[in-house]
Amino acid sequence: PSLTEILNLHDFEAIARQVMSEKAWAYYSSAADDEITHRENHAAYHRIWFRPRVLRNVTNVDWSTKILGHPTKMPIYITATALGKLGHPDGELNLTRAAAKHDIIQMIPTLASCSFDEIVDSAAPGQVQFLQLYVNGDREITKKFVQHAEKRGIKGLFITVDAPQLGRREKDMRMKFEAEDPREVTDNKASNKVDRSQGAARAISSFIDTSLDWKDIPWFQSITKMPLILKGVQCWEDALQAYDMGLAGVVLSNHGGRQLDFARSGIETLVEVVRELKARRGLTFPNEKFQLFVDGGVRRATDVLKAVALGATAVGIGRPFLYAFSAYGQEGVERALQILHDEFEMNMRLLGARTIKEVVPEMVDAGSVHQH
Ligand code: FNR
Repeated sequence: PSLTEILNLHDFEAIARQVMSEKAWAYYSSAADDEITHRENHAAYHRIWFRPRVLRNVTNVDWSTKILGHPTKMPIYITATALGKLGHPDGELNLTRAAAKHDIIQMIPTLASCSFDEIVDSAAPGQVQFLQLYVNGDREITKKFVQHAEKRGIKGLFITVDAPQLGRREKDMRMKFEAEDPREVTDNKASNKVDRSQGAARAISSFIDTSLDWKDIPWFQSITKMPLILKGVQCWEDALQAYDMGLAGVVLSNHGGRQLDFARSGIETLVEVVRELKARRGLTFPNEKFQLFVDGGVRRATDVLKAVALGATAVGIGRPFLYAFSAYGQEGVERALQILHDEFEMNMRLLGARTIKEVVPEMVDAGSVHQH
């Protein structure tokens, strides 16, 4: 179908499934074990309902905001997803270029198919990019990478903390991964030792440090001035610790359901994090000093508005953009972003919110999100 026939983010998935290679589909779509968390990520949004306000003159609505102090046209960012070239020969550059056109922030993955410098070089002047970090067992490699990223103008470092070992993604494991891509084991000289028999995820992740610990946080703070955010926090206790250690924020995420099956959805975690950080540290959200992000299962502007109402600064979106460029390249990603823009305009009017600041907790009924 032509791009104009694509009406929502779900459509990209249905088309990508038909046109992508089996191997790419298996890697992008798979999630851990029985994929219960993967399904829950999206389903959790269905338990949150709106309490719209009326008669508010919604002629002009504006859904732009700031993430870590940087302007963005929508309260979303393109989250880090590895191996972009599995889906399209231009890989992550599809995302970079589409993000530039829409003033959206892209989080570059450590395990991108394109090189880090290629992705930074292809950004437009002034385009904001973040970096997702997998921490290497060899800390010198990580230090060099982080300091290089800071020099190249990366504006935030998202340290992935939910993947000390890769989850079982059985769809992917059934595919034999024969990577020719020299980037597959980023800066890890052990590429010939990599086990290629269990899918893409395992093949690329053997360098990730299982010993990563809260004790390492001061070291990260000593090697970079970039804001540090933990990606993959899943309960208020860890969010509180991140705040107490002076980090800039956390992403409440279960890695798109690809890690621990039966981990809760990010939106559910958000509710308890906001409650407990208010009770224990007097924080209110959204908060400029300590920002909360959510990802997983976000497919509609209404999902984003729910997260924003509940205190998130912005949400990350992963698979829909992968599916969009796998089927249509950069134009697909642009179309996906345009669809989100259109959805924001309509839904903010219907919600009675003229700005993102007006999207307040009273506008949602999250009562059926389980309270812990
Ligand atoms: C991911 N994700 C991820 N996260 C990360 O920190 N480093 C990575 O390399 C990857 N790679 C990756 C590959 C693929 C194919 C997917 C689908 C996801 C997780 C990602 O950043 C994010 O948490 C989820 O994708 C969000 O869920 P949705 O939007 O895909 O449902």
